Amino acid sequence: MKHSYREMPESMRGTFGDFSRSFGFCWKEFVMSVPSPMFLVTTYKPNGQPNACMQSWATFTSANYGQGFYAILASVNKSGHLYGSLKENPSAVINFMSADFHSACMATIQNNQYEADEITASGLTADPAEWVNAPMVRECFMNLECEYLWEKEIVSGDDHVMICMEVIGVHMDDDYLADKTGDRGILYNIHYPVNPENVRKTAHDYAGVLMKKIDVGEY
Ligand SMILES: Cc1cc2nc3c(=O)[nH]c(=O)nc-3n(C[C@H](O)[C@H](O)[C@H](O)COP(=O)(O)O)c2cc1C
Repeated sequence: MKHSYREMPESMRGTFGDFSRSFGFCWKEFVMSVPSPMFLVTTYKPNGQPNACMQSWATFTSANYGQGFYAILASVNKSGHLYGSLKENPSAVINFMSADFHSACMATIQNNQYEADEITASGLTADPAEWVNAPMVRECFMNLECEYLWEKEIVSGDDHVMICMEVIGVHMDDDYLADKTGDRGILYNIHYPVNPENVRKTAHDYAGVLMKKIDVGEY
């Protein structure tokens, strides 16, 4: 049997899934609970200090007849440092962390002061990127150097904006060349899954990893 929801289920009223609208989250995100890749985007703030911003509303795609690879940051807060940094300097690095460095990367949210080097303050190491003007995180197993391309509001007047960046090049640890799935692989954000038929009082987010399930064969 399938359950159908078009309006927010009554069971969610008064819970995190309801009042989190004020943080920009729609209840559908929690009910539909589609995991998305989790990474740390690093830039230089206009004052020259390294900035770090966890991001997860995101995807990646090839375009331009296969001549380019692009990151789509689907919803970047216009009042955050990431957005402000990109306005001044259109360069960023997308850093993928293994589970071992999840908590250090999350600490950048607490170390979000404008004057702070958010990477060092979180116990991580900031190295200069090679091809763009941005810092990258040494402890992350994969760093994608990117240049800002364009932005668009999903709905006109929104306080978040979709940003497209071209991936210029990549740095990748030896151990990850062949496989970025499994226990030590790319993390996915499982954002506060809600079962409308059994709503819990407390909010739980999860970080997940991927396992290979089907060998789709050669081509
Ligand atoms: C797992 C996770 C995913 C996040 N994804 C996004 C996102 O996609 N867009 C966004 O604007 N903020 C996102 N955030 C919130 C920002 O990381 C947070 O507000 C951060 O402090 C902003 O940093 P900044 O001011 O340096 O840009 C996410 C946070 C977490 C923990």
